[in-house]
Amino acid sequence: MRATAIGLLAAVAASASAADTSTECSEGLHMIVARGTGEDEGPGATAMLAEEVVERIPGSSFEGLDYPATLTDPDYDESVAEGDEALRKRLRDYAEACPDSKMAVLGYSQGAHVSTDVLCGGPGGDFGNADPLPKDFIESNVVAIVLFGDPSHLANATYNKGTSKKDGIFERDDVSACEALGDRIVSYCDTGDVYCDSGSNRTVHSLYIERYGDDVVEFIADRYESAEGKKGPETSASRPTPSSSGAGATSSATTNTDTPSATDGGEEGAATEAGDDDDAAAGLVPGLGLAGMLAFGVVMALM
Ligand SMILES: *[C@@H]1O[C@H](CO)[C@@H](O)[C@H](O)[C@H]1NC(C)=O
Ligand SMILES: *[C@@H]1O[C@H](CO)[C@@H](O)[C@H](O)[C@H]1NC(C)=O
Repeated sequence: MRATAIGLLAAVAASASAADTSTECSEGLHMIVARGTGEDEGPGATAMLAEEVVERIPGSSFEGLDYPATLTDPDYDESVAEGDEALRKRLRDYAEACPDSKMAVLGYSQGAHVSTDVLCGGPGGDFGNADPLPKDFIESNVVAIVLFGDPSHLANATYNKGTSKKDGIFERDDVSACEALGDRIVSYCDTGDVYCDSGSNRTVHSLYIERYGDDVVEFIADRYESAEGKKGPETSASRPTPSSSGAGATSSATTNTDTPSATDGGEEGAATEAGDDDDAAAGLVPGLGLAGMLAFGVVMALM
């Protein structure tokens, strides 16, 4: 067991500056965040939420899904397919390395499309049909799934939140596998969103974290706490894990650290960047606070 733990730590150290392939086990919740099209590598604007969850659930961590998140190079459908593979593998690898650690999946825009492919299957049409992960696997390992502005949104899915009454531009053929996951999944889409609601207002697509962030943090914390409560301390202690045997590897590690922490300030200036050149906006990010990140979302969380 100790050798396993040391091996894992070595693997973590070796990959620390590479992609998000760490198998360090979280003592709290581990979040996998799939960013929207055009956002810089890493978790994107949703990092703000993930950081709040880390504060709320001690020992939690998050990583950005390593996938292209592009519209044209590679093309959107290929980027989604790569994202599907990456997310499926990451969920499986983490669950195998950390059987006692719970996960959540957060997806924005294209990242929501990827997340629903892997968790619901589909979406059908030009995208073909991705196989969903088995329901048993999801129920034992993933406590919460949060989607924002999903282009594959289906208007009458039972887990929808927000004001949208319309399908997205790539509406999913069949969401029964997601509906079977019950109250662990929520999908936010508001009227007018160009992607999830087939609307004409780009701004709406960028407002989910601002509008619903507090609700989402509560939702994730509730889901996590009820899952931990059901499991109970005895059960937990009887299942040894790499993290419980070695060297305290798990203290609230955030595996992707190149995201600015959410602080106030940077409001003016940032807001005026919306709609401007993406690279210019991306260059501003490290200096931006919470308000700046929200404005950044306006620019970058485009499908
Ligand atoms: C949603 O609509 C589709 C097609 O109109 C229908 O087959 C499905 O049963 C509906 N689902 C719900 C939850 O109403
Ligand atoms: C787009 O949505 C935003 C946020 O709801 C709103 O403030 C704005 O007026 C809308 N723009 C148009 C053209 O409807």
